[in-house]
Amino acid sequence: MNDIDVLLQETRSFPPSAEFKAKAHVHDSRLHDDAGMAPHAFWAREAATLDWMKPWETVCEWTPPRAKWFTGGTLNVSVNCVDRHIHGPRRNKAALIWEGEPGDRRTWTYWDLYREVNLAANMLKRLGVTKGDRVAIYMPMIVESVIAMLACARIGAIHTVVFGGFSPDSLRDRINDCGCKVLITADGGYRRGQTVPLKRNADEALKECPTIEHVLVVMRRRSGVGDETFAEMQEGRDHWWHRLKRQVPKYCEPEEMDAEDVLFILYTSGTTGKPKGIVHTTGGYLTGAAATTKYVFDLKDEDVYWCTADIGWITGHTYLTYGPLANGATCVMYEGAPDWPDKDRFWQICERYGVTVFYTAPTAIRAFMKWGAPFVEKHDLSQLRVLGSVGEPINPEAWMWYHKVIGKERCPIVDTWWQTETGSIMITPLPGVTSTKPGSATTPFPGIKATLLDSQANEIAVGGGLLAITHPWPSMLRTIWGDDQRYVDTYFSKWEGRPDLYFPGDGAKRDDDGFLWILGRVDDVLNVAGHRIGTMEVESALVDHPAVAEAAVVGKSHDLKGQAIAAFVTLRAGFTQSGSLRDELREHVALKIGALARPDDILFSADLPKTRSGKIMRRLLRDIAEGRALGDTTTLADPSVVASLKDQYEAQE
Ligand code: WT7
Repeated sequence: MNDIDVLLQETRSFPPSAEFKAKAHVHDSRLHDDAGMAPHAFWAREAATLDWMKPWETVCEWTPPRAKWFTGGTLNVSVNCVDRHIHGPRRNKAALIWEGEPGDRRTWTYWDLYREVNLAANMLKRLGVTKGDRVAIYMPMIVESVIAMLACARIGAIHTVVFGGFSPDSLRDRINDCGCKVLITADGGYRRGQTVPLKRNADEALKECPTIEHVLVVMRRRSGVGDETFAEMQEGRDHWWHRLKRQVPKYCEPEEMDAEDVLFILYTSGTTGKPKGIVHTTGGYLTGAAATTKYVFDLKDEDVYWCTADIGWITGHTYLTYGPLANGATCVMYEGAPDWPDKDRFWQICERYGVTVFYTAPTAIRAFMKWGAPFVEKHDLSQLRVLGSVGEPINPEAWMWYHKVIGKERCPIVDTWWQTETGSIMITPLPGVTSTKPGSATTPFPGIKATLLDSQANEIAVGGGLLAITHPWPSMLRTIWGDDQRYVDTYFSKWEGRPDLYFPGDGAKRDDDGFLWILGRVDDVLNVAGHRIGTMEVESALVDHPAVAEAAVVGKSHDLKGQAIAAFVTLRAGFTQSGSLRDELREHVALKIGALARPDDILFSADLPKTRSGKIMRRLLRDIAEGRALGDTTTLADPSVVASLKDQYEAQE
C-alpha cells in the first residue's frame, strides 16, 4: 500500500479535551472565521500586539507577486524580543534555560539577555558593522547564537545563520553569496561526545571569502574546547567574544527599522545546485512568528517551551528565537544529540525543566519509537501539555506513538506544515479547537488561505493536487537574495498568468472534512531527516570527484529519515568500481556539503537512463532504488540501460 492509500484510510479523530479547551487562548472557530473573512484585519490586530516606534500606514500592499506589509511602520525586533519584557514582572523571568551536551547548565533571564544583546550589538559596531551589512553566524547550539541574532537585529545588520553541521565549502558559498562583512563563530561545540571544530572549519572557508573583515569567536568553555589554543586566532581579523565584550559600552540604542527592512537571509536548497538565500523582513516576519507561536502552541507566560530545532534552520529562527521571545516565553535550548550519553536525554531534559510545550520532528519521533518506550517511562513527563511536529509528513504510526507514549493521550498534537520561505506556520491544528487526525496538518492557520489546485489552477475540493497559497501573508519571503527572477520563477510561475498564486512545491490531498494531508515535494528536492537537500547539489558534489563522470541522485523511502539519498554514478575512464571508492564518494559528499548530505547508497553504472532529449529519468531511478516494478520505459533512448541497472542494484543490496 502506498502512503496515499494509508492516509486515505485514516479515520481516527482526536478532539481536544474539555479541560484543555477551557484554558486555551483559542477554543472555538471564531478566530478562523473572522480571519477568513478579513485576513488583513486579523494580521493588523496581531501586529498591533508588537511594540512599534512608528505606526504603519497600510497593512498590506499586494502587487502580485510582490507584497509589502505594514508599510510606513518602524520597529526593532530586538526591542520586541527583549527590551519590552524588562520593565515588568518578566525582568528576571528565565528567557533561555540552556543545557550543554556534556551536562553544563545555565539560565539567562530576560534582563541577562538584555545586557548581553546590548554588548554584542556594540561589539558588532566596534567591528565596523552598520545597518544593512550582512553578518554570518556559524555556531553550536549555545545561547550566544541567539544573542548574536538579536544583536544583529538591534543594529539593523542582516544575519545569515549557517548550520554548524555544514562544511567549510557550504559556509564559504553562503558567505560569498551575500557578501558578509563579519563572521560570528565559536571555537567548537559538542556532538555525541565529540568536539565539532567550528573555528577550524571557518578558517578553511575564509581562505576564499574576500568580504569578511572580522571574525568574532565565542569560547565554548569546557576543557579542551575552551582552551584558547583550540582556535588559532588571526591577529587583526579574529577577536575573542569574551575579551571584546569588556571593551564596549553597555547600552546600544536600537536602530529604527522599516517594517520592510531585511531582518535575515537563510539559505535553503532548491532544484538547482545553488542554494537560495531566502529573504525575510522585519515587521511582517515578526508578526507571523509571534502570532503563530502564541496560538499554535497555546503559549502562556507560565509555559516552559522547548523547540528542539537547531538555529541553523528556519524552525530555530522562528520557534526557538523570534516567536517565543517576542511572547516573553521561557525556552529550553539544548546543545547536543538526543542519544547522548543515553537515549533518554530528551526526556531527562523535559523532566528536569518541567517542559510543557515540546516541538520536534517526525524523524526524531521515529528514532524514539525505535529506541523504545522504556527510555521515556524512566521520566516524569506530567508537565507536558502540547506536542508539536514539523519538517516532513508524520506517519500515523509515529503520530500515535507520540500521542500515547509521550503525550499519555492527554496532549494535543499540532502537526505544523510550513517552509523556510513561509517564515511561519501555515497549515496546522489549533490545539484547543481542532479535532486532529494522525498524519494530517489539518487546516490553514487563521489569516492564511491555502488550497489544492490542479495544473490548470482549478480548485480541488476533495482528492489530491498541488498545494497553493492564494493570498499574501505577513511572514512570506520577499525575494531570493541577489536573484529576484528566481523568486518569480520558483514561487509564482507555476500557474500561467497567475502571479498571485504561491507554489510551495508540495503535493497534498484534501479529505471529506476539508482536512489537508501533505504528501511531500513534487520537485527534485529531498527531505532527509527533515532537512531539505536538492538532488542537484549532491550530484554536483559527486561529479566534483575526479573518478565521477556523471551522477544522478534520487530519494528512497527510509524508516527513520523519511527519505535517504541514493546516487547512481558513472565513472570516468581509468577508474573501476570498488567498495572503497564507494566509501570515498560518500565521504566526498559529506566533506563538500556536510554530513547530512552523505548518500546512503551509491550504485556504479555503465550508463544512466535518459530520455531521447538527454534528460535523466529520475522516476525510473527511484523505482530501482525502492525495488519497485519498473514503470513506463518507452520514452527512454536505450531501455536496456534500466534493466541492467536494476540487476546491478539488486546484486549490490
Ligand atoms: C518542506 C520545507 C518548516 C520548517 C522545517 C522544514 C516539508 C515541513 C511539514 C509537515 C509535511 C512538511 C514540506 C516543505 N514539511 N513541515 N508538517 N508535514 N511536510 O523547512 O527546510 O524549508 O522544508 O518540508 O515538504 O515544503 P524547510
